[in-house]
Amino acid sequence: MPQPNAADVKSIKIVIVGAGSVGVTTAYALLLDRLAADIVLIDIDKNRAMGEVMDLSHAAHFAQARVRVGDYEDCAHAAAVIITAGVNQKPGQTRLDLVKTNYALFRDVVPRIARHAPDTILVVATNPVDVLTHAAHHLSGFPLERVIGSGTAMDTTRFRHELGKHFGVNPRNVHAMIVGEHGDSQLPVWSLATICGMRLHDYCRAARMEHDEAALEACAKRTREAAYEIIRRKGKTNYGVASVLVSILQPIVTDSDAIMTVSRVGTYAGIQDVALSMPCKLNRHGAYQDVPLLLSELEEAELRESAQSIKEVLMSLEK
Ligand code: 2OP
Repeated sequence: MPQPNAADVKSIKIVIVGAGSVGVTTAYALLLDRLAADIVLIDIDKNRAMGEVMDLSHAAHFAQARVRVGDYEDCAHAAAVIITAGVNQKPGQTRLDLVKTNYALFRDVVPRIARHAPDTILVVATNPVDVLTHAAHHLSGFPLERVIGSGTAMDTTRFRHELGKHFGVNPRNVHAMIVGEHGDSQLPVWSLATICGMRLHDYCRAARMEHDEAALEACAKRTREAAYEIIRRKGKTNYGVASVLVSILQPIVTDSDAIMTVSRVGTYAGIQDVALSMPCKLNRHGAYQDVPLLLSELEEAELRESAQSIKEVLMSLEK
C-alpha cells in the first residue's frame, strides 16, 4: 500500500463519531498507520471520550499526531468522517435487529456532520451497515461516491483468511471476494476466486490437491458466521473492523485507486436504490467507480436475493 508522505499527512484530519470499542480501536490503528495528523473523537459521553483520548494521546506521542475530543463543528475540513456510533449486536442478534435504534441515531448525527463538513467523505461502520449507508446517503445529500459503508470488506478479509488456511498460502495471495450484504445474505464469488491466476479447481489440479467442495463451503460458512462466533466469545468485534476501516481510509488519503468490496448506493441485479457491497475503486474522491463483475447465473440470482433482503428492511423503515 502506498504510504502518504509526511507533508500530506500534516493537513489530514479524520473524525470518528462514536468512542466505543470500534471507534477507539480505529483511532489507535490510524495512529499506528500514521494516516492522519489530527484525529477527533466525538461521543455523547464526553467523559469516557476524554479518558480514551488521554490514553490514545500517550500513543500519539510516538506517531506525532494529535488526538482530541471534539464536537460536530470539528468535522469541518475533515478528509473523512467515520461513523461507528450505535448499539452493537448482542449474542444471537443479527445485524438487522439493530436497525430501528441505529437509524434513529443516524437521523440525528448525519445532518449535523453534513452541515459542518459538506465536502467530506462519510465512512459508515455502524450496523446494519448497508441499510445505514443508504440512510447516510439520503440524510446527507452527498453524492453516492462520498458515502461508503465498510460492507463486505470485512467478510472478504475473513474469507481470504479462511481460504489461505485451507490452501496453505498467505491470504494476500488468494484473490477472492464476498459481495452483497454485510450479513446473513452475503455471497462468495466462487466463479472468480483465484490463486496465482488459476481458478480454484485448476489450482487444486495443478497443486495435486483435492477440490473439496464441502471444505470450501465450510470456509464460506465460517466467514459468514465469524462475527456471531466472536460476539458469543468476547461480546463484540473491534480489531478486524478497525483494520478494515483503516484500509478503506488508505486509498482515500493516498489517492491510490485501490479496489475494495465496500457498500455504496446503486442498482444491483435490477434492484434500484439499495446499498450493498461490490468491488469499487477508491481514491480521494471516495468510492468513485464500480468494477463490473461477470457473475455466474447462480451468483447473480444470489445477489438479487441479497439486494432484495436489504431493500425489504429499507421499505419497512419508510413505513
Ligand atoms: C463484524 O462483522 C459485527 O459487523 C461486525 O465484525
